[in-house]
Amino acid sequence: MAINDVQKVLELDSGRAKELPLEEKIAVQKIEEDTIKSFEKRMAIVIPIKDEKIKLFEGVISGVPHECLIIAVSNSRRRRVDHFKMERDTLNQFCRFTRRRAFIIHQKDPKLAQALGEAGYSDLLGENGRVRDGKAEGMLAAMLIAMIMKKQYVGFIDADNYFPGAVWEYARCYASGFAMSKSPYTMVRILWHYKPKISRVVYFKKWGRVSQVTNRCLNSLISAKTGFESEVIKTGNAGEHAMTLRLARMLPYASGYAVEPQELISILEMFGGMLPAARSKALKHGVEIFQIETANPHIHEEKGKQHLKGMLSSGLGALYYSPLCAGETKKVIIDELQQQGAIGEGGEPPQPRIYPPLKKVDLEKFAEIIQENMTLYSLPEEKH
Ligand code: GDD
Ligand code: MG
Repeated sequence: MAINDVQKVLELDSGRAKELPLEEKIAVQKIEEDTIKSFEKRMAIVIPIKDEKIKLFEGVISGVPHECLIIAVSNSRRRRVDHFKMERDTLNQFCRFTRRRAFIIHQKDPKLAQALGEAGYSDLLGENGRVRDGKAEGMLAAMLIAMIMKKQYVGFIDADNYFPGAVWEYARCYASGFAMSKSPYTMVRILWHYKPKISRVVYFKKWGRVSQVTNRCLNSLISAKTGFESEVIKTGNAGEHAMTLRLARMLPYASGYAVEPQELISILEMFGGMLPAARSKALKHGVEIFQIETANPHIHEEKGKQHLKGMLSSGLGALYYSPLCAGETKKVIIDELQQQGAIGEGGEPPQPRIYPPLKKVDLEKFAEIIQENMTLYSLPEEKH
């Protein structure tokens, strides 16, 4: 496997095909418009959403390139005010005006639970027989929809982004990463140029606290395992990331917000050569990870300190309980969590639930049940 160091977006639009002098090609990659479009056409953009302002969702969908298929997976409230209905109506209108297709599904829809159960993936279901809460749980359901829609790539973009232009750039970065990759088993993770904090003045902060700590712990794990100090991981928490579905179907996933660090852990465990690995095609091709820094800053909803502490400890839980995590990294994790006030004296991070790889799902069965009820989810009906 290969983890590429950060690559920066130099131009948002690098124009049409034109040869670059050879020496520049070594350091600079030009991804042509047609190439980007050819990847976007095969890509689903998944938007997990839970009770976000509808205007933000509207902005986010407007930023998804026309060629991509939008799959929104919602866990929004439906009592009193039906937030999900507002999301569905917004998407419906958008698709009508722009002549495009999209899917929206509610995470708690009984038909989704039934489809998962009958297709052999009841792992996602909670005690009440519905899909459990959590961003990861929504992402997993959406990946299955991307698979039955015969997409080859899936990218995730949060619904609470204030800049449609940033959303547009993420999708193009995903396409560019896939275009640069030499392996069918590829992951592209986004690193923000800046993540501004707004108090009375706007301060262009480079790193969020959670990312800083998660990256440090992941790098400590890699350094301890390899014996070479490393700072290669810059995108431990990247909510904005994409995968080839060939890679996506092979990985175990962690619940909730532990999902992104766990993806890296799963790749390291399966393909990092540090643990005995099962033979697979992916091992032969190698897995490639790209970390791409955008030109746009990232501004999203601020959800408070408690939310951040929860996210930090569940993400670090993914590292802590990995068989790759040795004593010294465990200590770094505990120290960091205590310093951030996320755990108390003698505390440990919560152990995330681990979901098995999606490759065990009977996709035909899943499609059969979901498609029977497709009018509920497809907006608008496809006309050819
Ligand atoms: N379907 C679904 N189900 N969506 C959810 C759920 C859920 O249970 N919980 C949250 N979401 C949606 C939110 O509405 C938002 O669009 C997205 O998932 C991310 O959730 P936030 O609550 O906004 O997370 P964050 O901004 O603090 O953290 C984000 O960035 C981190 C660092 O890059 C997330 O993407 C994290 O996963 C990421 O690690
Ligand atoms: Mg957010």
